[in-house]
This record gives sequence, C-alpha cells and structure tokens, in this order.
Amino acid sequence: MNSQLASKMGSCACLVGLSPMDGITDEPFRRLVADIGSPDLIFTEFVSAEGLAKGGVKLYDKLLYRQEETPIVGQLFGKDPDSFYKAAYVLTFLGFDGIDINLGCPAKTVTHHGSGAALIGHHDLVAQIISTVNKGVDDCLSATKTLSDLGLSQKTIAVINRNLAYSFPSGYSSRLTRPVISIKTRLGIDSDISSDWVGFLSSLPLDLITLHGRTLKQGYSGHADWQSIFRASQIARSNGKKFFGNGDVQSRSQALEYCRRYQVDGVLIGRASLGHPWLFKDQTPSPSDRYSAMLLHAQYFRDCFPSRPLDSLRRHFLSYVSGLKTAKALRQQIVRISNFDHLLSLEAAILNC
Ligand SMILES: Cc1cc2nc3c(=O)[nH]c(=O)nc-3n(C[C@H](O)[C@H](O)[C@H](O)COP(=O)(O)O)c2cc1C
Repeated sequence: MNSQLASKMGSCACLVGLSPMDGITDEPFRRLVADIGSPDLIFTEFVSAEGLAKGGVKLYDKLLYRQEETPIVGQLFGKDPDSFYKAAYVLTFLGFDGIDINLGCPAKTVTHHGSGAALIGHHDLVAQIISTVNKGVDDCLSATKTLSDLGLSQKTIAVINRNLAYSFPSGYSSRLTRPVISIKTRLGIDSDISSDWVGFLSSLPLDLITLHGRTLKQGYSGHADWQSIFRASQIARSNGKKFFGNGDVQSRSQALEYCRRYQVDGVLIGRASLGHPWLFKDQTPSPSDRYSAMLLHAQYFRDCFPSRPLDSLRRHFLSYVSGLKTAKALRQQIVRISNFDHLLSLEAAILNC
C-alpha cells in the first residue's frame, strides 16, 4: 500500500510543507505546527544514518512522531550505503510516509565528513545510496529481514519499539506502507549545476526531488534562485518525478503562487515558520494566539521530553513575540525562562501588547 504522502502527491496540485530544520523541527514543534497550521506534509530534522545504524539510541528521539504530524517524512544524512540500508529499513518499520536523503546541508560538521551538500556531483555514491534505501524499504515491507537481522542491539530494538508505541498508541497492526523516497538538495557546490544535477537525480529510482535555490557556498546568503528551480523542475517532471521548490517563501499564498509561476508540485517552508506556524494558513496571530502557542509548545515539549528543562525552547519563545510592541522588554525575561511558572508570569505582558 502507498503512504498517505504518495496519495496526496497524486491528488494535489500543490503541497505546502514544513521543511526540515536541525534543532527546530523536533516532535513538540512539529506537533504544534500541525495543530495550528496543518501543513500538507512535515519533515523531521535530519538524523545521521550512520548513527542510527550503529544504534545511537538518543537519535531515535528525533524520530518520535504522532499521527497528527502525518504525512511525515524522516530525513537522513550520511555517506555510507550500508547505514542507509539499515536506517531506511527502520524508518519504514516505524511507519514513516517518506524517507528523504539530505544532499544539501552546508554545515561544516556534515560536509567535512563528505555528507550533506558535499555529496553533490558524486553520482556513483548517490546512486548506491538510493539503491540501498530502496532495498531497505523492500526488505522491511516483504519481511525478508527482521530488526535483529540488521545487527541492532536489544537495547536499540527496545528503543525502536518505544518509538513505535509512541506513534501508534492504539496498536499498529496495519501500519506498513511504502514510503515516498526523496532527495533534498541545492543548486550546486560553488556554482549552479542544477540542470545537470537534477537531470542525473531524475534517472534514479526515487519519487521526489526538492531543490533549495542556493549553492552550498551561498549557505543562507543572497536570494533563492527560483528561475533555476523552474528549469530543474521541467527536467525532473519530464522524467516523471515530483519536484518541490524551497527557499525564502513566507506564506501559504506565496507558496501556491510559486507553484503556479515556477511549475513545481510543492513548496517547503523553513525559517519563516519559526514562531509563526500560522503562515501555513495565511493567518495573522493576535498576542493571545502567540501566548497560547507558547503554552502549548511548552506542554508538548513536556509531554515528549518530560525530563528536559524548558531552556531549549527559549529560541522558539523569542520568535513568538518577535514583532510585538514590547518585544524588546519581553526578550530580557524570555532568555531566563526555565520552567512553566516563568512562562505563566509573562501572560499579562504578552496579552497587553
Ligand atoms: C536552523 C536550520 C536548520 C536546518 N536543518 C536542515 C536539515 O536538518 N535538513 C535539511 O534538509 N535542511 C535543513 N535546513 C534548510 C531548510 O530546510 C531550508 O532548505 C532552508 O532554510 C531554505 O528554506 P527557507 O528559506 O524556507 O528557510 C535548515 C535550515 C535552518 C535555518
């Protein structure tokens, strides 16, 4: 059976999704964005395929998700095909609607290991990775191999089963579906080679390509080049692939307009969603909406990570108040928030903005 995402891609003219963001699109944030904005699809932050294959149990926290967040795509990075095989098996086992391979991360911690955007142009290795991802999916769906056959420890298998129970609390007898296989990449390393690169990617056995309209060298500077996205889209679609554009989009209406103008099947929105999950519905939040979102985000964080302090939400809290008249004064208090009581004490200051 095909995944929810495959069905949506088959029936919708334009999908608008939450882009993967390391350190941001964790389970509590995804759940909040799903609640408030209901994007058409949601990505996890990227997770190391090698780390998952080695049984790094903490990494499995990044793969926790609830049904409200579906269709959900799990994103992997790395460079070792065998690890991608195991990671793809695990993501399929966990019921993900899609498995995305990151070929776009510009962070030196990733590219220095030859992963992320450093893989752009490495045709043979990328082809091998996609082939092993397909094999991992097939072996899971056909049950030719079990989790134990992957060489994972009992401790790791217990954590995978914990994830499964989190995602399917009322049982998971018929959860296995064929995930969409995709790649998210950039225009090139230090120059725009997107037509050739996407031409090559389109020849691989995958369903979807997302192109961020910047090179690795650009990082996040300058503007995303949507003309290049348009050209690459023509190539991918003529090869029967779905194609999403990404970069600098601020709202659902802009995403829909870009779908028409640049002839893509969907748009992913990243940075603009931080502190603004309403953008997926083109809504403008009131101060009260923002405060409610902060509370809900904190509650979802506590549900998912009961033993972690709220400190790591400060970045999100700062973005919820951004643009309010008293944002500057609020910021000084927000950077000290470490528990729920602190947050509750800000109610009047936010509501009276
Ligand atoms: C803090 C941060 C973390 C990111 N982490 C990832 C990631 O894990 N995987 C990925 O493919 N892209 C990642 N990106 C890139 C975004 O998904 C997106 O491609 C980029 O921000 C451009 O889209 P935007 O202008 O809508 O933000 C990250 C971006 C930011 C700002």
